[in-house]
Amino acid sequence: MCGIVGAIAARSVAGILLEGLRRLEYRGYDSAGMAVLDHGQISRLRRIGKVQALAEACEKQPLAGHLGIAHTRWATHGKPSEQNAHPHMSGERLAVVHNGIIENFEPLKRELQQQGYVFTSETDTEVVAHLLDRELKQGLTLVDGLRQTLSYLEGAFALGVIHADSPEQLLTARKGSPLVIGVGIGENFIASDQLALLPVTDRFMFLEDGDIAVLEVERIQVFDASGDVVERAVTTFEHGLGNADKGEFRHFMLKEIYEQPRVMQAVLEGRTASGLLLEQAFGSGASAVFDQVKQVQIVACGTSYHAGMVAKYWIEDLVGIPCMVEVASEFRYRPVVLPEGTLLLTLSQSGETADTLAALREVKQRVLATLAICNVPGSSLVRESDLSLMTNAGPEIGVASTKAFTSQLVALMLTTIALGRRHSLTAERETELIAALQQLPELLQQLLQLDGAIEQMSTHFAEKHHALFLGRNSLYPVAMEGALKLKEISYIHAEAYPAGELKHGPLALVDKEMPVIAVAPRNGMLDKLKANLQEVRARGGELFVFAGCEQSIQPEDGVHVIHLPEMPAILDPIAFTLPLQLLSYHVAVLKGTDVDQPRNLAKSVTVE
Ligand code: G6P
Repeated sequence: MCGIVGAIAARSVAGILLEGLRRLEYRGYDSAGMAVLDHGQISRLRRIGKVQALAEACEKQPLAGHLGIAHTRWATHGKPSEQNAHPHMSGERLAVVHNGIIENFEPLKRELQQQGYVFTSETDTEVVAHLLDRELKQGLTLVDGLRQTLSYLEGAFALGVIHADSPEQLLTARKGSPLVIGVGIGENFIASDQLALLPVTDRFMFLEDGDIAVLEVERIQVFDASGDVVERAVTTFEHGLGNADKGEFRHFMLKEIYEQPRVMQAVLEGRTASGLLLEQAFGSGASAVFDQVKQVQIVACGTSYHAGMVAKYWIEDLVGIPCMVEVASEFRYRPVVLPEGTLLLTLSQSGETADTLAALREVKQRVLATLAICNVPGSSLVRESDLSLMTNAGPEIGVASTKAFTSQLVALMLTTIALGRRHSLTAERETELIAALQQLPELLQQLLQLDGAIEQMSTHFAEKHHALFLGRNSLYPVAMEGALKLKEISYIHAEAYPAGELKHGPLALVDKEMPVIAVAPRNGMLDKLKANLQEVRARGGELFVFAGCEQSIQPEDGVHVIHLPEMPAILDPIAFTLPLQLLSYHVAVLKGTDVDQPRNLAKSVTVE
């Protein structure tokens, strides 16, 4: 989704802006541009496609200047084109970059057109540039003009603004869309996330909704929504696990799959002692909250939603209280019933997903407490929730989420334990569960050794157009996640079903062109799943089974089996995920798709 970078420095900023954009590429985009104040004039370059195209244009036409803004655009209003790419300008002296959606841009655009403004793009952003220009023409200062402009806007935005008449100032504002300020020495920056700025600083300031900030080389001044000057804390980025480098791996996704053993360690670190959970990990006041929880409402999007679905099986089984799970885009817009004692649990890798944040804001006042399980400290979701548990997975760059999902599952198991203690979960069972979780690094290491066999299996899929994933119980959401991975990066149409539903519809699709992937654990559901698999074989469907133990299912003609190592059953959803990630990865590589930045998708969906 759109990415913003901006810089004000004593040195030339074009290189900083380009590197920042490269680091934001993972968010997904279709065009890129930058505007730099160069000898009193704003020079702008925009290109469709990759940041590399913009970099090449910059080589031919170098932009020198100490103040600039840059942007990667993910089309919402108007097709991907150079005209629609940011920055947008009003006249020659004012340039704006924007992430988010201005919901009332149409009436604003009509009004501005009546006042003589000519639009050169189809974007909602261009109204911001012209509105600001109009305010400046009334005699307002840049910061007052921006404040006045913001008062007209409905929707979500993060903005970067430069004006040729204010060569010493970079302005920024945010409401509902992510934006960080990077605090340098004699230079300051803005960006959509911290990763973009790590080459130039590791000190960051997070703006609150409604804030406007004025950055100068030696000073950052922040105004809150009511115009008062406020202090916002500066925090230092923790260079933890992982970084924005592919290292020896061909793709970020593969690197992130291979990081999972270490990630399992990181998410457990400091969260247990003497075989028991340390509840302080959820924040102060967590224990008092957990004491009062009568049910859990989970809200999330995409892969995070699938993690929530797994947790429903765990919470209802091990805690014995109701757990509802819903995608945020549905939840936020319906009159939900939230009985007394509801814990709202939001799950998000980025902590900036617009629908998840909106769902949190919508019901925050009506629930017992809010808990965010998140991978980005300092993200909006974490800051706006009562309690939080970090997944500590390190930056995830591949658009298709991998390590974030498995680390969310571990965090969810810790949450299940915290709640279970207050209900039927005994201390012995808790110790068993923690001991099982501690086996994960070793277990996932063993699972990675299946990579060669999975790569071979992937050759059966390269020519296929459809695939069906089957699972039962807590492996049904794992099957859903497997199907999502395959469709996201290989563009093969994939659906997941609870295996028991097979004969209620999807069986009609099964023939030799429809590979069926099944995740088959050792639990009580195995015999039932085997019966479902017979139904597939009887229709000529080719089966690809990830099986939980040697005896369970044997390979035969048309039945390919990969056996997983022995492990405690409670780990099944985490363990079975990894081979499915590898399968999608290898199929995508065979198909030659853009694995890390699949078409049309964004890593961080900060607009509705
Ligand atoms: C996008 C990403 C997915 C992710 C989803 C939710 O669709 O491509 O990988 O699962 O957003 O993101 P979140 O950051 O809230 O987990």
